[in-house]
Amino acid sequence: MQSLRLLPQRAVTAVGSVRVSASPVPSLGPASLRYSGAATPRLIVSNDLRSHGSSFFHTVSTLRQSSETEQTAGPLWKTPRTMPMDKYEYLSDVWRDGIFDNKVVFCTGGAGSICSAQVRAMVHLGANACIIGRNVEKTENMAKDIATARKGARVLGLGAVDVRKPEALAAAAERCAKELGSIDFVIAGAAGNFLATMDQISSNALKSVMEIDVLGSYNTLKATLPYLVESAEKYKVDGKTRPKAGTGGRIIFVSATLHYAGTPLQSHVSIAKAGVDAMSVSVAIEQGPKGITSNVIAPGPIAGTEGMARLSTDDSRRETRRQIPAQRMGYVKEIADATIYLFSDAGNFVNGETIVVDGGAWHTSSIDSGAFKYPDFLLSGETVTGVAGMKKSKL
Ligand code: COA
Repeated sequence: MQSLRLLPQRAVTAVGSVRVSASPVPSLGPASLRYSGAATPRLIVSNDLRSHGSSFFHTVSTLRQSSETEQTAGPLWKTPRTMPMDKYEYLSDVWRDGIFDNKVVFCTGGAGSICSAQVRAMVHLGANACIIGRNVEKTENMAKDIATARKGARVLGLGAVDVRKPEALAAAAERCAKELGSIDFVIAGAAGNFLATMDQISSNALKSVMEIDVLGSYNTLKATLPYLVESAEKYKVDGKTRPKAGTGGRIIFVSATLHYAGTPLQSHVSIAKAGVDAMSVSVAIEQGPKGITSNVIAPGPIAGTEGMARLSTDDSRRETRRQIPAQRMGYVKEIADATIYLFSDAGNFVNGETIVVDGGAWHTSSIDSGAFKYPDFLLSGETVTGVAGMKKSKL
């Protein structure tokens, strides 16, 4: 990649030093790795957040309002906000209230910026929810916050659950089903990421990411599958008859686009996410006959998320936006909308698929931004000159 200039090592180390509960990895894509070389990342949460959950929760709350400023050059982290979110920040107006009434969504990484929006949208539309995380305070606080999306909503925040521990997940799933009545939808969103080349990481580092992303997703599936099968059986859909009580028995794996074209500094995540994608297809094939659907959502660069803070600098974010056909980053709402589509009656016949929500970002990963800078050259209406073999077409 011609324009790739890596972050200085000290900046990478600083970003990597953030310790947080697992949450999904946005696919920054190769474009986002066209780093400017700016040495100071905006957010350094250098403490172990497992012991500073409260301050981090405030940080997470600010993620919502930071989306707009994040797309400009403004500060990423602003003053805490604890009031309920405006619905349009996490859900489009096209969905009908109540479509997930009496349903339960179980989500790992649910305290993270992307997954919390997915769950919040489900809760707004009628679901109760159980979110899982490693950090107790952060997870419990986020559960309370999500519950503000609908009067009477019940949202359990189960902290101290590491997706790498199958028995912990099984216990969490059991508690969710016992307290909320079922598990109808699952979002496997927990993920781990940091920026480093393959030769800079140890075997143990790769193992950590593989264990969180691949094994963690597998453990999530295993723990919830019996409930999903039950729900699929109860809420059968045939695509022709209007479902009386909605849908159920569906899982979404939150993946990435990093591995489509290959992304330097994120090989470990690319390897893991390729595994997650394969797992989702296998689930669709094996469990589809029981009524289960299994799909992947692959987010692109999403503004105001923890992932953007961990994996990019101010200047690289500016450059990233140029490389996205949509000329902007996405919002968590756009991931939530894709989630509602897949879980609702609208997504009945979608199984074993990946929905990439990235504004077209990954398609531009091979763009030569040198002489014919994207998108300026396209927008200028000029024709290519200065290269061999050019001909003028008779239009
Ligand atoms: N560069 C190179 N190696 C790194 C690293 C970095 N930036 N960060 C962690 N590692 C290595 C550690 O040094 C360790 O390897 P070692 O035993 O050879 O020293 C290994 O990874 C495990 O690190 P540790 O911190 O003990 O693991 P953990 O299980 O507590 O954390 C991570 C897992 C590394 C994935 C951590 O980044 C994490 O908890 N992430 C969750 C949140 C997240 O990433 N969200 C994604 C938002 S995009």
